[in-house]
Amino acid sequence: MEIIHVSAECYPVAKVGGLADVVGALPKYQQNLGHTAKVVMPMYRTAFLYRHEWDVVHKGRTHMGNWWYEYTVIKEHDNELGFDLYLIDIYGLLDREGIYGYADDSERFTAFQVAFVDWLGGWNHRPDIVHVHDHHTGLIPFMMQYSADYGHLKGIKTILTIHNAQYQGWMGWGKGTYLPRYDMWKSGLLDWNGTINPLACAIRCAWKVTTVSPSYMEELRYSANGLEPLFEYEKGKCIGILNGIDTQVWDTETDPYLGTHYNSDTVEAGKSAHKLELCKRFHLDPSKPLIIFIGRFALEKAADLLPTVIGDAFHYIGRTMNFLILGSGDPNVEGRLANLQSMVAQDYHAFIGYNEQLSHQMYAGADFLLMPSRVEPCGLNQMYALRYGTVPIVRSTGGLKDTVIDYGDWQGFGVRFEHANVGDITHGIYRALELYQDKVRFDEIRQRIMHIDHSWENSASEYIALYLS
Ligand code: ADP
Ligand code: GLC
Repeated sequence: MEIIHVSAECYPVAKVGGLADVVGALPKYQQNLGHTAKVVMPMYRTAFLYRHEWDVVHKGRTHMGNWWYEYTVIKEHDNELGFDLYLIDIYGLLDREGIYGYADDSERFTAFQVAFVDWLGGWNHRPDIVHVHDHHTGLIPFMMQYSADYGHLKGIKTILTIHNAQYQGWMGWGKGTYLPRYDMWKSGLLDWNGTINPLACAIRCAWKVTTVSPSYMEELRYSANGLEPLFEYEKGKCIGILNGIDTQVWDTETDPYLGTHYNSDTVEAGKSAHKLELCKRFHLDPSKPLIIFIGRFALEKAADLLPTVIGDAFHYIGRTMNFLILGSGDPNVEGRLANLQSMVAQDYHAFIGYNEQLSHQMYAGADFLLMPSRVEPCGLNQMYALRYGTVPIVRSTGGLKDTVIDYGDWQGFGVRFEHANVGDITHGIYRALELYQDKVRFDEIRQRIMHIDHSWENSASEYIALYLS
């Protein structure tokens, strides 16, 4: 089968979060299963772009309403990622350093999608599957199905994977003219509550819809940022497939970001070495359990609760643990987490920013990873943590529910709590520290979790089965 993934992110080309990790890994594993998988994404000005050689494979010209523009499709020369990687360059729109967050994001991603469909429309063969990811690529199934100019693309199967339904790409109907000519009787497919909603449109127009964990699919039927009835209505074509992790990138025995390598037999010494290094660097106390948080400071991740949680933990449980935070996002949360430093410096450090290497070192050196997420469609951090022998403390939601079993339950290994509120999170931390005191049990769990198999092999086959269906 020939599968084309279309996405706004792909690791290591451009990454904001887990979407990039998934799109950087899934196609590789699909190739391993004997299929041809390709990735198409916008050409941003990232370090990856400048470090690699590119071949121009297509130059085209298309339009959004009255605005005509040229686009260029380039392909990475050496196939370094293990699959064909194509970038679409639209001068002035996509070629920026950032990925999201510009005032003209609607124009940027719509132009990208229109260019993709225009390019695909000129191919002299048809791929079997076009697999789109999140709202940035959500108009593609509609355009392929209903655009008069691309009628010959009708019938190519499209799949939508939802990594996050909180963001839907809403835009006013004034931008309706951006789309290539389409059957006006179908305009209702674009609309949700009076605005163009690319995510809703993709849910209606894709042949199948997946979420990145089974539990998240269930949750969307009662909590989907306004789209609940749509998920209920379309449930027949919806399925949850749990993400995997790239075990070649995330491997404690070969990870190039780690100075000391280890495996489950040497986990104690290996993790101690990393913990020591982290504690030295951030002036923490290596004799105390180390709890980390890594992630975007967005509402979904509940990072806004961390300052109060940390204050309460120190106050009610005592200064018996250390916290190390890595992340960026909401400036208000950044400020509050940075300010906390002056009050509890010996037991706490916040590194505000994005740092891939430090994240690997933290998964390796920590005792616990805290994920109090309000919404977590899958979550990759907890799976990286498990593989690196770090015990997850998670809220029971979405993919966290599907991957972490509480240590009080049969074959359990982590800590789970019900609500994303200060009381529940602090109680979760308290229970984690109790586990830490039981050294024999804690060591047994650390060794065991390193063997839990979350590699992409299983999930990649599930996607193939879905395409075949
Ligand atoms: P999301 O995609 O919602 O942000 P995931 O758990 O799926 O959440 O994936 C997050 C990914 O981004 C992980 O690979 C995590 O290690 C990484 N990450 C998040 N924030 C940072 C940061 N500040 N520095 C380095 N890596 C980060
Ligand atoms: C999204 C979700 C996250 C998921 C990731 C990859 O960013 O927030 O839970 O792991 O996509 O699918």
